[in-house]
Amino acid sequence: MKTFSSAVLFLAGLAAASPVQQQTRQSVGPYQIAEFSASKRHNSGYCDFAFDVSAPGLEGAAHCTASLDAGFSGATWLANVYEGAGKCDDSAVTWTFFQSHAEGSGASLNVTVNGVKGLRDIPPEDISVRLNDEANPFDNDVAYAGPKAFEITEFEETE
Ligand SMILES: *[C@@H]1O[C@H](CO)[C@@H](O)[C@H](O)[C@H]1NC(C)=O
Repeated sequence: MKTFSSAVLFLAGLAAASPVQQQTRQSVGPYQIAEFSASKRHNSGYCDFAFDVSAPGLEGAAHCTASLDAGFSGATWLANVYEGAGKCDDSAVTWTFFQSHAEGSGASLNVTVNGVKGLRDIPPEDISVRLNDEANPFDNDVAYAGPKAFEITEFEETE
């Protein structure tokens, strides 16, 4: 009788565990990014970011934005969107963006939905840098020039 009870408890435990596992698996799928834009304001270090993200587990697209300082108006890179600086109208989504200050660097965009981090590498050719005035090191424009819509298909589970 005792053995039977433990078996039942064990099975009940398994049954309780499986929906959670299923949910985790369902939430990993391509994340669809649309209307992605990132650019430094002219004669300013401030960079504006915006995009929409649709993903399994989200009800409709979430809209995400950030405005951050790249340092100075002559920056040849886009500002770092550190953890917590990227805003979204859905609390299930967080994101970060980083581009090295080294000339000709690409960037990295991470979008986390319900604890599952999606990774996207942005190649250097997708970021345009314009040195408008050879004599003025403070007059540079930087903007994302890649596709506005893309899929994120690489994931990392975060705890
Ligand atoms: C994105 O995540 C990867 C892997 O965890 C990490 O190496 C990279 O620095 C992250 N990039 C950003 C912009 O947070």
